[in-house]
Amino acid sequence: MEKIIDEKIQGQTLELETKKENTRKLFIESYGCAMNFSDSEIVASILANEGFNTTQNLEDADLVLVNTCSIRDKAEQTIRKRLQKYNAVKKINPKMKVGVLGCMAERLKEKFLEEERIVDLVVGPDAYKDLPNLIKEVEDGRDAVNVILSIDETYGDISPVRLGGNGVTAFVSITRGCDNMCTFCVVPFTRGRERSRDPQSILKEVNDLAEKGYKEITLLGQNVDSYLWFGGGLKRSFKKASDIQKATAMDFAQLLDLVAAEQPKMRFRFSTSNPQDMSLDVLHTMAKYQNICDYIHLPVQSGSTRILKEMNRQHTREEYMELIDSVREILPDCSISQDIITGFPTETEEDHQDTLSLMEYVKYDYGYMFAYSERPGTLAEKKLEDDIPEEVKKRRLAEIVALQREHCAIRTEEFLGKTFEVLIEKESKKSNQHWAGRTSQNTMAVFPKENYKVGDFVMVKIDDCTSATLIGECVGYSKNN
Ligand code: SAH
Ligand code: F3S
Repeated sequence: MEKIIDEKIQGQTLELETKKENTRKLFIESYGCAMNFSDSEIVASILANEGFNTTQNLEDADLVLVNTCSIRDKAEQTIRKRLQKYNAVKKINPKMKVGVLGCMAERLKEKFLEEERIVDLVVGPDAYKDLPNLIKEVEDGRDAVNVILSIDETYGDISPVRLGGNGVTAFVSITRGCDNMCTFCVVPFTRGRERSRDPQSILKEVNDLAEKGYKEITLLGQNVDSYLWFGGGLKRSFKKASDIQKATAMDFAQLLDLVAAEQPKMRFRFSTSNPQDMSLDVLHTMAKYQNICDYIHLPVQSGSTRILKEMNRQHTREEYMELIDSVREILPDCSISQDIITGFPTETEEDHQDTLSLMEYVKYDYGYMFAYSERPGTLAEKKLEDDIPEEVKKRRLAEIVALQREHCAIRTEEFLGKTFEVLIEKESKKSNQHWAGRTSQNTMAVFPKENYKVGDFVMVKIDDCTSATLIGECVGYSKNN
């Protein structure tokens, strides 16, 4: 079932539209979160000015970059396997250089060069503007490493090259880093302090995308709801901001309002929301604009207040449920998805039952579920023993996945017999006679193509469904088309 994902790590290679004068070939591959995919577009844009066009053929590449994920051990193992593959190709093409970007680069730093002899270049998430210099170092025969985390880099001045996409949906990053320090999470160590991007540069990127014909934008950040711009964007400096800066600061609800009003013909989504930072203002702004999608990814991690506290999540089970109640009240058609971790240190059967009962309460539309993976350097690793046996973590994971599957089917069935606006994104994987696109609620719908085209907003009447996909037929254009 495609919407229930217990491991979201997938690789995707990206191809850039060719610049004729460029002679060098870049093979860039991304793993992990949407932010990595978005960052790879920034990297491709920086390197397009250094003579690189992208290729989808590894064997042809002069430079191979892999944008990595450290969130769970399994993610890192996947990347180490890829490095072995690059190594095999490098034996045939010894001039090929290999660089590691992203969170694993940041976590392992110079150690990478020792551990993986084939790596020439190690570049952390805030150092991509240094890539041209680092590549020169490598070409001169030196290893090159830059993993310096920044407090103000947001790449706001770089216009990403849209890679391998459908020309209809795009990501725009609005914050970088995270200050939340959830005890299980490596992100604050690999992506640094939380900082927001200047709203004017966000607006410019949104307008550029609109001009190029894009129809839907997902605003990205580790914690979008804590977006805050006050002339500067470093979250922890806000306390020291002047009164004027505080009075004129822009928060996430205001940013949403700004972009939704600027481009009323475009749809907006955002990810990820942290329950403690999601304000009622955001929900009211979503209700005010029909072009802000009725969908919230609201990771909960656990349904037990005791475990949430051990995880340093800043809310209780009850507060999370109150937030869900507010979503249901203010946005009755909103779909909600989750992230859940099973087998966090000290998790008892009772805590696990609390997670299952919370899921029953919310009946999430879908979710991403994981067995706890201890990450070096995190607070949980330092303070708590990874004491839940692997088979118990797996069994609990199987139980929550099974329950999510039931809820997924219930939620999908609720669409039956009704008509929804769908943005056509691509051809259906199963039939070249059908289009596929998502509803505002982020559910995939397929329907006969007729004379409609990719990028159209259409109204689709849903007559049938699988557990995760809606099946219907088009009854005309949406009035927003
Ligand atoms: N705020 C981020 C969260 C990134 S991590 C965002 O933009 O989505 C994504 C999910 O991975 C988390 O919500 C959590 O459920 C899971 N995760 C993080 N660290 C983990 C660990 N050590 N073990 C298992 N799952 C983990
Ligand atoms: Fe990680 Fe928690 Fe931030 S899950 S990305 S530390 S909100």
